[in-house]
Amino acid sequence: MAKADHIKKLVGSYGRSQEFRAAALRIIDEAANQGKKPFADALRKILDANVSPDYQASQPRLTSLGSQVDPATSLVDEINVTRGLRDIVLNADTRSLVEGIIEERRRSEELRRHRLPLSTRILFAGPPGCGKTFCAEVLARELSLPLFAARIDVLVSSFLGETASNLRRLFEFAGRRPCVLFLDEFDALARTRADTTEHNELRRVVNSLLHMIERFRGPGLVIAATNLPQFLDEAIWRRFDEVVSFDPPGEKEVALLLARQFANFPPHFNIESISPKLMGMSYADIERICVDAIKKAVLKKRKSVSETEFASALRQEMRRKGLTSLGKM
Ligand SMILES: Nc1ncnc2c1ncn2[C@@H]1O[C@H](COP(=O)(O)OP(=O)(O)OP(=O)(O)O)[C@@H](O)[C@H]1O
Ligand SMILES: [Mg+2]
Repeated sequence: MAKADHIKKLVGSYGRSQEFRAAALRIIDEAANQGKKPFADALRKILDANVSPDYQASQPRLTSLGSQVDPATSLVDEINVTRGLRDIVLNADTRSLVEGIIEERRRSEELRRHRLPLSTRILFAGPPGCGKTFCAEVLARELSLPLFAARIDVLVSSFLGETASNLRRLFEFAGRRPCVLFLDEFDALARTRADTTEHNELRRVVNSLLHMIERFRGPGLVIAATNLPQFLDEAIWRRFDEVVSFDPPGEKEVALLLARQFANFPPHFNIESISPKLMGMSYADIERICVDAIKKAVLKKRKSVSETEFASALRQEMRRKGLTSLGKM
């Protein structure tokens, strides 16, 4: 029989795979020492098949966890988190909302003492390339939480009955372990119930999604993101503690983004003069232009970017955009 302390450690480490593995190994050693070798060997096999050691777990950048650790992990991808608040450019309103979420978490004890709830359900809305996914990474980084992106393709099963049970498994997963659970393309899940073209069963799925969001209380955060907020069911909005909008950069943000992009590669021309040409573009578009311009300079073995290189990168982006919109027709 395993010692009570070891069993307590095992149960207490649920969700933290390496601690769980260490506790299980102790129980296996104990069994082997008590002469129960076949039992110890069988346990070891089960453990190795389900909880890989640390060096394996830290290998991949984007990991589909399969069914190794938790039955719900086939529904999520773990995303490597490297960038923090200082890397993202946000307008003053959005920044203050994001900083507010971080501050709440950092001072959660104070809020709990006053019986105030933490914001746990957050909706990110805004056009493509304006930082929704990036900001989920930033929050995970600042709060030292792992980031899991729900696999909408797996989640939305062709059997609608399964979609509801997949959603339940997903929310149970996020309720068990402290993490940021990111539901991208949220509109695909939460299509309006008023949409008469949709099946009744789909309405039931949306209802259970509403219910799960409403009941979610952490320990981490659930962040849903959409660039089609107009397609969201009206009832969805009030289920979130915070709605954060991500807008295309204004003049100030364009200037900040350019300064960041060219921090190690100073442009050889007046950068302010080109800012007006970038208005209306997304952060991702502008980033791509800068990277292209820097690449051109590097390939010409120059240490700074010239106006010609920047203009050529800008033209390239415009062409790309033209092609992109043609592709959509
Ligand atoms: N606000 C921002 N500040 C700095 N860089 C940004 C910002 N927004 C986007 N970027 C850059 O563009 C990349 C793509 O942006 P991101 O994936 O966050 O867009 P998104 O809003 O999630 O778009 P989509 O709706 O298509 O999913 C980011 O990884 C980052 O490099
Ligand atoms: Mg995104």
